[in-house]
Amino acid sequence: MPTPDSRRIVIFDTTLRDGEQSPGASMNLNEKMEAAQALVKLGVDVLEAGFPIASPGDFEAVREIARNVRGTVICGLARCRNEDIDAAWEAVKDAERARIHVFLATSAIHREFKLKMDKEEIIRRAVEGVRRAVGYCPDVEFSPEDAVRTELDFLCRVVEASIDAGATTVNIPDTVGYATPVQMGNVIRVLRQRVPNIDKAVISVHCHNDLGLAVANSLAAVEAGAGQVECTINGIGERAGNCSLEEIVMALRTRHDYFHCQTNIVTQRIVPASRLISSITGIQVQRNKAIVGQNAFAHEAGIHQDGMLKEPRTYEIMRPEDVGLTQSDLVLGKHSGRAALADRAKALGYNLNRQQLDILFQQFKVLADKKKEVYDGDLAALVEQQLQTTPERFALAAYEVTSGTGRAPEVYLRLRRGDEEVETRMSCGDGPVDAVFLAIEQLTGITVHCTDFRVHSVTVGKDAQGEVMVVVEYKGQLYRGRGMSTDSVEASAKAFLNAINRIAAMAPAPSGDQNA
Ligand code: KIV
Ligand code: ZN
Repeated sequence: MPTPDSRRIVIFDTTLRDGEQSPGASMNLNEKMEAAQALVKLGVDVLEAGFPIASPGDFEAVREIARNVRGTVICGLARCRNEDIDAAWEAVKDAERARIHVFLATSAIHREFKLKMDKEEIIRRAVEGVRRAVGYCPDVEFSPEDAVRTELDFLCRVVEASIDAGATTVNIPDTVGYATPVQMGNVIRVLRQRVPNIDKAVISVHCHNDLGLAVANSLAAVEAGAGQVECTINGIGERAGNCSLEEIVMALRTRHDYFHCQTNIVTQRIVPASRLISSITGIQVQRNKAIVGQNAFAHEAGIHQDGMLKEPRTYEIMRPEDVGLTQSDLVLGKHSGRAALADRAKALGYNLNRQQLDILFQQFKVLADKKKEVYDGDLAALVEQQLQTTPERFALAAYEVTSGTGRAPEVYLRLRRGDEEVETRMSCGDGPVDAVFLAIEQLTGITVHCTDFRVHSVTVGKDAQGEVMVVVEYKGQLYRGRGMSTDSVEASAKAFLNAINRIAAMAPAPSGDQNA
């Protein structure tokens, strides 16, 4: 447990920036706002909200978060270019506390092939970038991109120059996930020994997970003196992702005896935050994922169960409730009342207003009629479905499909579009799901290429709700969709429509528009 001499590690969350760079994980404005609120409740110290110059949508999201989210530092990313830095400042300037994060690659391979700049030019550009950012705001972070593959002497020079120019945090990225723990620790130690002004800045690390070492490397950096760790919920991010927030935080907490460090994270909010990000991005957490995976606290072997019953600490180094896992995963039924439902939703981390609770209660009653026991997972799925913020241009009104061996399925589909209903009857496709998808394409006029389709059950039992996730490609962009039902064809139709609605929300597609 924290002691007065514990070192405080700054948790810099980049779920909404680097995390969003995971293929297929892009989030719309409402989703980012919701995620940002959850991150503040979680207690992150710095929230990197996006890369404002990257697109008008990114700019708007960072600006909205800066204007509306209180209680943390809001950061915007920029290359060492005037237009990037100006855009980052425009986006974050209304934040309660703002940070500009500028970066420039420093490794030989990036200098030679990407930037075509020599070492002196890199230092000059880095200094100019930091100075311009400091002209706007006092909290400036500088990242020498691909620092881990940069010659150590040169890295020291760049870091020193950026601090002289006014950087208050120097972040050492392992951009390609190449480092090993001993090496990472060594880089931080060398910087602390050789950079004369290093005490004027916080040293940060940003580790990618290409070799599965992001958390281990970040811990090694902390052990060597880093004061900030950049991380994401569920470890999402570019390629194999980033250092996972929940893992680094729980490692520091559980092994306080070793690291003597603490963070500001409200660990009981970890599981709700993980569920929310998974639901928003469509990136599911693997069952055996540390801290937040479904199996993380499940004990299967008899000998372990026996030990657990005698004394939980025999096999459990963390308590499930410390990461926000509610102890019982049960059970509401059709006789459960509104108060019990509200209580359960709150325990799962959802703060619903009266109207949201009313809708949830209605949906819960319908579900409880279909299946006897409603588990936490069912409830979370219902809430998350309700919190989905994509405007529903098309909604499923009814469907029927018959199929059998050796014949094309017959499908009837009716969709609601505003106040009107449209319907079709066709004989098509390769199985019932394909037939429903083709009918949806015909009625919406939006034709897509389905690149991923996954079904899993939200809870246990034959009557469990099925959750379908689809990823579709439309005009070179990927869109996700998610649907739930106790009927898996209906869940597939809802997921496909959800993706189509995302497309329609981005670019209103006139009826008949075909994806060439
Ligand atoms: O991985 C990386 O180098 C980055 C920088 C922008 C910090 O994401
Ligand atoms: Zn990164």
